[in-house]
Amino acid sequence: MKLEEAAVRRYLQSDGVCVRTEETVDSTNLRLKEAALAGRACAPCLLIADGQTAGRGRLGRGFVSPPGDGLYMSMLLDFPPGAAPGQITLLAAVAVCRAIEATTSLTPKIKWVNDVFARGKKVCGILAEGVGKWVIVGIGVNVRTPPGGFPPEAGIAGALDQQVDRAELAGRIGAYLLEGMKRLGDPGIAEEYRRRMPLVGRTVTFEKNGEKRSARVTGVRDDGALLVASERGEEALQSGEISLSSQSFSGLE
Ligand code: BTN
Repeated sequence: MKLEEAAVRRYLQSDGVCVRTEETVDSTNLRLKEAALAGRACAPCLLIADGQTAGRGRLGRGFVSPPGDGLYMSMLLDFPPGAAPGQITLLAAVAVCRAIEATTSLTPKIKWVNDVFARGKKVCGILAEGVGKWVIVGIGVNVRTPPGGFPPEAGIAGALDQQVDRAELAGRIGAYLLEGMKRLGDPGIAEEYRRRMPLVGRTVTFEKNGEKRSARVTGVRDDGALLVASERGEEALQSGEISLSSQSFSGLE
């Protein structure tokens, strides 16, 4: 069932935001992108769907979005001139963690770049896309494990599986995002991200220039790049994905 716009607004703490809620759509990122490009939406605007038939994930993947079991939201925001896209990524991950903490008893953790984990499983994915002068921050939170469990393509997915009001979760994420956008680049955001990203010292694998490599994580830069060290020295990963061996997921519980 689609969420009530008034219920979301209660937690958004801002009147100047358009809020739209829908039943099932193909992808909230796609809907909002089309609306913005056609002049039918202006920033800031929040679109939330009960379910998605073609939820989009990072790196060309899909995002499993069964109706009623998750929060599928996209926010259209003005891209601040001079900002690094990575700063928005850091902010979005922190906003989701804060909102989950405020609405559940969980202590979520971040796996670079912006996967949010709880109890060792991925409970949220974030897809930020630049569109013209805007950025669309798409956030999918698995609120309940679907009846029958997650399909294999959902990978290491898990759910919050606590009594959570999706409207409150959406409103709180939106409120943190809006507040953070006003102070983007504030080192406090990156510091908070680092506190929630427990992978420093871990060996991770990643692909760079078509080559599969391993290196030890040494930190996260304020612009969102992951710093890793190997026999080739220290280097910064700007985007992409890191993999952990299964026992490494222990830090993301
Ligand atoms: C990922 O984990 O790869 C990112 C997943 C992002 C999913 C969200 S759900 C709401 C928004 N609409 C989409 O189509 N994708 C994002």
